[in-house]
Amino acid sequence: MALSKLSFAALMLPLLGAVEASPTARSITHSTLVTREDLLPEYDYVIVGGGTSGLTVADRLTENGKHTVLVLERGLLQNSSSVTTVAGGISAFLDPTLLFNFTSAPQQGLNNRSIAVINGRLLGGSSGVNGMQVLRGQREDYDRWGSYFGKNSEWSWDGLLPYFRKAWHFHPPTPELVRQFGIKYDPGYWGSTSNVHASFPTFSWPALKLEMAAFGDIPGVKYPSDSGAGETGAYWHPSSVDPATVLRSFARPGHWDGIGAARPNYHTLTGQRVLKVAFHGKRATGVVFVPFDATDQSQARTVKAKKEIIMAAGTHHTPQILQASGVGPKKLLAEAGVPLVVDLPGVGSNFQDQPFNIVPQFNYSSFPFHPDSSDLYTNQTFIAEAAAQFAANRTGPLSIASGNCASWLPLQVIAPQAWKDIAARYEAQDPAAYLPSGSDKAVVAGYRAQQKALARSMRSKDSATYNLHLGGGYSNGAAVYLHPVSRGTVHIDRADPFFSPPEVDYRALSNPTDVEVLLEFTPFTRRYFTETRLKSLNPVELTGPGANATRDQVEAWLRGVLIPSSFHPVGTAAMMPRQLGGVVDEKLLVYGVKGLSVVDASVMPDLPGSYTQQTVYAVAEKAADLIKARA
Ligand SMILES: Cc1cc2nc3c(=O)[nH]c(=O)nc-3n(C[C@H](O)[C@H](O)[C@H](O)COP(=O)(O)OP(=O)(O)OC[C@H]3O[C@@H](n4cnc5c(N)ncnc54)[C@H](O)[C@@H]3O)c2cc1C
Ligand SMILES: *[C@@H]1O[C@H](CO)[C@@H](O)[C@H](O)[C@H]1NC(C)=O
Ligand SMILES: *[C@@H]1O[C@H](CO)[C@@H](O)[C@H](O)[C@H]1NC(C)=O
Ligand SMILES: *[C@@H]1O[C@H](CO)[C@@H](O)[C@H](O)[C@H]1NC(C)=O
Ligand SMILES: *[C@@H]1O[C@H](CO)[C@@H](O)[C@H](O)[C@H]1NC(C)=O
Ligand SMILES: *[C@@H]1O[C@H](CO)[C@@H](O)[C@H](O)[C@H]1NC(C)=O
Ligand SMILES: *[C@@H]1O[C@H](CO)[C@@H](O)[C@H](O)[C@H]1NC(C)=O
Ligand SMILES: *[C@@H]1O[C@H](CO)[C@@H](O)[C@H](O)[C@H]1NC(C)=O
Repeated sequence: MALSKLSFAALMLPLLGAVEASPTARSITHSTLVTREDLLPEYDYVIVGGGTSGLTVADRLTENGKHTVLVLERGLLQNSSSVTTVAGGISAFLDPTLLFNFTSAPQQGLNNRSIAVINGRLLGGSSGVNGMQVLRGQREDYDRWGSYFGKNSEWSWDGLLPYFRKAWHFHPPTPELVRQFGIKYDPGYWGSTSNVHASFPTFSWPALKLEMAAFGDIPGVKYPSDSGAGETGAYWHPSSVDPATVLRSFARPGHWDGIGAARPNYHTLTGQRVLKVAFHGKRATGVVFVPFDATDQSQARTVKAKKEIIMAAGTHHTPQILQASGVGPKKLLAEAGVPLVVDLPGVGSNFQDQPFNIVPQFNYSSFPFHPDSSDLYTNQTFIAEAAAQFAANRTGPLSIASGNCASWLPLQVIAPQAWKDIAARYEAQDPAAYLPSGSDKAVVAGYRAQQKALARSMRSKDSATYNLHLGGGYSNGAAVYLHPVSRGTVHIDRADPFFSPPEVDYRALSNPTDVEVLLEFTPFTRRYFTETRLKSLNPVELTGPGANATRDQVEAWLRGVLIPSSFHPVGTAAMMPRQLGGVVDEKLLVYGVKGLSVVDASVMPDLPGSYTQQTVYAVAEKAADLIKARA
C-alpha cells in the first residue's frame, strides 16, 4: 500500500489554498553550476549529494577560499512555487518531480504492506520538501550518542549546542502571538548568523491555546523555556521559513544561493547519479557518476578527490553507494558480485525511522472557536480573506507551514502503570533475538549497547517517547513514536546494485517492545482528549479500534494502519565504535579505508526524540569543522 495523501495529511496538517509566492524579482548569483564538460579532473573535496547536509558542509569548506570543492547532486536546481510556498507545508510533497519515491520491502509486521519510501531529490535535498518543522531532541539523545564511545566523547549536548546555534538564525514570535498563546522562548539556545532561518507564523489557530493548556492537566507534563532547551514537555517551535520573504528556508537558499560569485573554488554539478566511490587499495580516490537518466555505465565518468570524498546522499542512498563501492557486509557484497574493499557489516544495518498513524483521530462535537484550521478547506469567505491578507503583506493563516505546537512526552507520563515493566522486559531481551537472522556479531554488540542506553531512556523523565502534534481544530493531532527499538536494513539490490533503488526494509514492529509501547499510545491519547479540560469540547473518537477494543484488537488495528516512516530515516552509517558495528568514527571517517567520510543523517546512531532536520544541520556544521581541522 502506498503512503496515501490522506495519511500524510494527518502528519503534516496541510492547508488548502496554497498561494504562489509573489514573483518579487531578486538577482541571485549562484555558486557556479558547471556542466560535465567544465568539470575539473580533480578537486580537494568531492561531496556526494547536494542536500541538507551536503550543501551545509560545502558552504563551510569553501568559505576561506583555500580548498576546491565539487558537489555532485542527483536532482536539479528547482525553485518552483511548490518548493518555496510555506502555507500548509505540503506543496513540495505533492510535486513528484521533487521526490525519490520507491517501494519498501513488504512489512511482515504490517500484514505484508509495502510503503512508499520518500526523499527530497533536488538541490537542497529533503530540506526542500520537508514539513518545515524545526525541532531539537532532548539533551540525553546527544549524550547517548557520545556514550557509545565512553566518557569523554565530544559528541554530547554540550558539544553540539554551539553547532545548533551556528546552524540556525532564530526569529522570535511576534508580541501579539506571544500574548495570545503564552509562547515561551529563549534566544540563548539559538544563533543569529546562519542564513537558514527559524521563525514563527504571524497567526495561529485560537483552539491551540486550550489544546496546549490541556497537556498541563496530565501529571508530569512540563512547559520548557524554549523548544531548543533539550527538554521534554509541551511547547511551541519555529518553522524553517525566512521571515523576510515568508518563503521556505532550506539548504539551497541558506547555504548556496548567492555565495558563488566570490568562490571560484566551488563547483556544483546537478542531474548526476553517483554510482560508486573509486579506490586505490584502501584509499578513496574518486567518484564514478552518470547523468541521472542513464540506464547503464556507458557515460560513466570519474572525478578525483585529493583530500576526501564526503558522503551526503542521505540515509537510504549513502549505504547503497558505499555497498556498491565495496564498503559493506562481505556476504551481501559477494551475493551482489561487488568486489570487497572493506568488510563493514554495519553499512545498511541499524536502520530506523519514526512510525506514525498510530493513534485514533478525535473530533470535537462542541467547538466554540473561529476560525479553525478547517476553515482553510471549507469556508470560501475565510479562504479569500486569508489569500488577500497574504497577498497584502505575507501575514496571516497562510504564513503557517505544517504547524508549530506539540507535546514530547516520556514513557512514564503516558504509561504510568506499565513503563517499568516495559523497560525491564526490553532490557532483558537477547539482543540478537529480533535483529535479522545471521546479523554480524559486531552489529549485535552495537545493538546490545543501544538496548542498555534506550532502556535508560525509557525510564527517564527527560527523554520523550510519545509526540502528539496539534492541528488547531481540523485534524486533532497526529502522534509519532520517537524511539522505536526495531531495526531495519538498507541493502543494494543484489541483481542491480547501481541502477535499482536500494532495498529498504523497516522491519516495522519486529521487536515486540515496539508493540508494547504503541499499545499505550491509544489509551493515553484518549486520556488527553477525554480526561483533561478538552472534555468540555465533547471529543468523539473518529477512527481506530474503539474504546472497548481488546488488546489484541488494538494490536491488529495497529498492524493494519501504522506507517513506519515519518520521513526521518537515520542510522545506516552509524557513528559508533567499529566493534559495535559502527561505520564512521567520532571524526565521521569511514573505518578501514582512507579519505572517505559521511556527514548526513545516516551517521546518527539512534534517533533523537524529535524530528530530524535541525539535528542534521547541526551535525553537518560540526562535520565541516572536523573536516577543516584535518585539511
Ligand atoms: C517529506 C519529508 C518531510 C519532512 N518533514 C520534516 C519536518 O517537518 N521537520 C524535520 O525536522 N524533519 C523533516 N524531515 C526530515 C529532514 O528533512 C531530513 O532528516 C533531512 O533533510 C535529511 O538530510 P540529509 O542531508 O541526510 O539528506 P537529504 O537532504 O535528503 O540529501 C541527500 C541528497 O543526496 C542526493 N542523492 C541521493 N542519491 C544520490 C546519488 N546516487 N548521486 C547524487 N546525489 C544523490 C539527493 O538527491 C539529495 O539531494 C522530512 C523529510 C521529508 C522527506
Ligand atoms: C526562488 O524563488 C523566489 C520566489 O519566487 C525568488 O525570490 C528567488 O530569487 C528564487 N531563487 C532562485 C535561486 O532562483
Ligand atoms: C509515490 O508513488 C506512488 C506510486 O506511484 C503514488 O501512489 C504516491 O502518490 C507517490 N507518493 C508521493 C508522495 O508522491
Ligand atoms: C506475509 O508474507 C509471508 C512471506 O511471503 C507469508 O509467510 C505470511 O503468511 C504473510 N503474512 C500475512 C499476514 O499475509
Ligand atoms: C466534527 O465535528 C463537527 C462539529 O463540531 C462536525 O460539524 C463535523 O462534521 C465533524 N467531523 C467529522 C469528520 O465527523
Ligand atoms: C467563514 O469565515 C468568515 C470570515 O472569517 C466568518 O465570518 C464566517 O462565520 C465563517 N463561516 C462559517 C460557516 O464558519
Ligand atoms: C496585513 O494586511 C491585513 C489585510 O489587509 C491587515 O488586516 C493587517 O493589519 C496587515 N498586517 C500588517 C502587519 O501589516
Ligand atoms: C463501551 O462499553 C461501555 C460499557 O459497556 C458502553 O457504555 C459504551 O457504549 C461502549 N463504547 C463503545 C464505543 O462501544
